[in-house]
Amino acid sequence: MYTNASLKEIRATYAQHLVPQLVTAVVIIDDDLNIQYLNSSAEALFSKSLNRLYQQRFLSIFTHCSISTERLIQVLKTGQDFTDSDVVLEFIENYHITIEVTASVALFNDKEHILLECKQIDKQKQISAEVFQEQQWEAARDLIRGLAHEIKNPLGGLRGAAQLLDKELNPDQQEFTSMIIEQADRLTNLVDRLLGPNQLPRLEMHNIHEVLEKVRQLVSMDNVNQIEILRDYDPSIPDIEIDTEKLQQSLLNIIRNATQILDESGVITLKTRIATNQTINGKQVKLAVKISIIDNGPGIPAEIQDTIFYPMVSGRDDGTGLGLSIAQTLVHQHKGKLSCHSYPGRTEFTILLPLPKRV
Ligand SMILES: Nc1ncnc2c1ncn2[C@@H]1O[C@H](COP(=O)(O)OP(=O)(O)O)[C@@H](O)[C@H]1O
Ligand SMILES: [Mg+2]
Repeated sequence: MYTNASLKEIRATYAQHLVPQLVTAVVIIDDDLNIQYLNSSAEALFSKSLNRLYQQRFLSIFTHCSISTERLIQVLKTGQDFTDSDVVLEFIENYHITIEVTASVALFNDKEHILLECKQIDKQKQISAEVFQEQQWEAARDLIRGLAHEIKNPLGGLRGAAQLLDKELNPDQQEFTSMIIEQADRLTNLVDRLLGPNQLPRLEMHNIHEVLEKVRQLVSMDNVNQIEILRDYDPSIPDIEIDTEKLQQSLLNIIRNATQILDESGVITLKTRIATNQTINGKQVKLAVKISIIDNGPGIPAEIQDTIFYPMVSGRDDGTGLGLSIAQTLVHQHKGKLSCHSYPGRTEFTILLPLPKRV
């Protein structure tokens, strides 16, 4: 039997030793949202020690965190905890991790604090989510293509019949047949775009910077908003097998979206790097070329972030929602991956193209 005193002591001893050892990253922040404590898992997760982070504003240690200040304050105000299994933390430009967070109120020294329990979502899970997304995208694309095919065939017959009829009619009735022909042509045009690129790529060894420079020239020609286009190239990137026209089209589709949304203070950065140990469509790739198109615009609306690569998903009233779907198909034809990471103030599209193993 434990006496009350010894039980208290035991609890205190365990509590003291337990938290530092937990695999779960534990963070305690005060009501000003300043860090008061991190256990060693949290130090490892953020790659910084408690010594450095003590009394720092929690959200200031990231370049971006998908949990807002308001959401944390809400926990203190209402006492209601929350769990979010898809929190993105960005530390430095380009390096981000996804974690699951539970935030709740905890009392320390008679003051209310927020206790954050964080777990990094494991890589395997992230890869399967990526593969799942990929399958969804393919299913949506195939569905649209199937439909487009079904519409295209009778459309040809319809147009042909209207043309024949046109010859039989007197001029004041031909107005109607030409209307049928005109609308059939309009629909054929749309359907062709829905069908997407249908030719196989012609792969040849090229330097990707040639393609990027061409795209930059094309974009600067109708750059009405005087958007600044910066280059940050890694000249050591070797030549790679690409279809220059298709890659150019893909890049144009991505950059045009940015130029459409940016104003005079807009900056687009074209960046190239070699990336190592990437997963491309579920496969591990040792070496890849990474092309990033980064803009400082308002970001992709949250409600379409997960589906922007689907055909017909658009955030603009006059958009067709086909640009990114086509860009994705073209990158796929290069066995590459097109992905996106966006929040207000920074949107980055990344094209990863696998590089063959060096011999
Ligand atoms: N750089 C960007 N910044 C903000 N939103 C973007 C960006 N790129 C794409 N989007 C969003 O993604 C949507 C889909 O783009 P896209 O497939 O090219 O179709 P469309 O341009 O016809 O709308 C756009 O309508 C826009 O809402
Ligand atoms: Mg577009």
